[in-house]
Amino acid sequence: MSSDRSSDRSSGSFPSGFLWGSATAAYQVEGAAAEGGRTPSIWDRFSHTPGRTENGDTGDVACDHYHRRADDVAMMADLGLNAYRFSVSWPRVQPTGRGPAVQRGLDFYRALVDDLLEHGITPAVTLYHWDLPQELEDAGGWPERDTAYRFAEYADLVAGALDDRVDLWTTLNEPWCSAFLGYGSGVHAPGRTEPLAALRAAHHLNLAHGLGAQALRSRLPARARIGISLNPSVVRPLDPSSAADVDAARRIDALANRVFTGPLLHGAYPDDLLADTAGITDWSFVGCDDAKLAQQRLDWLGINYYTPALVSHAPGGDVPRSDGHGASDHSPWPGADSVAFHQPPGERTAMGWSIDPSGLYELLVQYGREAPGVPLYITENGAAYDDKPEADGTVQDPERIAYLHAHLEAVRRALAVGADVRGYFLWSLLDNFEWSYGYSKRFGAVYVDFATQKRTPKASARWYGELARTGVLPP
Ligand code: NOJ
Repeated sequence: MSSDRSSDRSSGSFPSGFLWGSATAAYQVEGAAAEGGRTPSIWDRFSHTPGRTENGDTGDVACDHYHRRADDVAMMADLGLNAYRFSVSWPRVQPTGRGPAVQRGLDFYRALVDDLLEHGITPAVTLYHWDLPQELEDAGGWPERDTAYRFAEYADLVAGALDDRVDLWTTLNEPWCSAFLGYGSGVHAPGRTEPLAALRAAHHLNLAHGLGAQALRSRLPARARIGISLNPSVVRPLDPSSAADVDAARRIDALANRVFTGPLLHGAYPDDLLADTAGITDWSFVGCDDAKLAQQRLDWLGINYYTPALVSHAPGGDVPRSDGHGASDHSPWPGADSVAFHQPPGERTAMGWSIDPSGLYELLVQYGREAPGVPLYITENGAAYDDKPEADGTVQDPERIAYLHAHLEAVRRALAVGADVRGYFLWSLLDNFEWSYGYSKRFGAVYVDFATQKRTPKASARWYGELARTGVLPP
């Protein structure tokens, strides 16, 4: 927490130097899946498997950002944004997940960063946003320890290429999704449904973060700032006066949040998590120094927030699972079969996610306290709506503006009580490939006509650009 960066609390002003960005991820926007020496990632394999994504959609072309990079950057600048969070495609840079880098892959990201810097836009690089080289999955994927070491090697390669021009580095994006949706419920690539593999994956992602952060730190100049983007769950008990519901919330908090923040912030897995999952594993895959290794100094912490979770105790296991992560017969929550998920009250976005900005406020205050001295960035926040161009070609999305306004108001409230929030990245710059939902969900501030690749900034993009330019949230 800090007080010297205080905003003008009586007006809607944010601190000077605040980053106003948008975010994307390689597989969701780049396309060019077979160009420049890139080989398949787990998402290429998964999306090409019938029945895995809505409409059979794949990221083969996506937003064709690989070819439209320069125009996309110019558009961000035109809108007034001063930061951009993007991810590097591991199989574009190191196709088999081992050995030397492919120069053409690195060149793409160097060119992207050059474009950004020329336009005065701060680049924030994410090394892993879910596109594991398929060859590493064939060797066992994240449930195998070796994958963490491969990640550190890859981190070193990317750092070597961008060390002179990028200061803001993210090891992993939302490792919860990689572990529990990828290996637990199977709604994400690689689509495995093995509770033990999900827990092993979570651990090896923690280890990968630690080893990756070490690799980055030894390669990058001292000014580089290394962090991770988590998607902490705001877990609320359905009946706060019910001890059983409160305990259900504790279980999900352990599996959603503390399985990562335990090692990353405190150097140990929480005892209650180990006890809750004792029927699945004794965690003997955790080496004795691993949790400490995962606890590297964090220069910042990224928070991705969309919606809270509402849970209750439901013995018997036959429970509704409307936890918003996609339909599966398999739970993404190992050892929590007696927890039911409920739809929180209030309005919802097109994802069916309820809108509750107080969750973002709570997370910023909570992590400000739990990670004292660690600046926070909101590395994702945004909403999907069924946007359509009007007859005059404009795209009016007042619901998204209201969503962003309410959440930025929550950020301002957190700043006012001392949370050290340094920036906000709207998810997403462009409508893009929304994982198992394919192109059916539009999160962009910019509308993409996927038949022509024409970009049309929505009303929200103009609204957000104005905010980025002035730093003042209108009433
Ligand atoms: C989190 C993920 O990081 C991003 O890839 C995804 O598109 C958004 N949330 C929306 O679901």
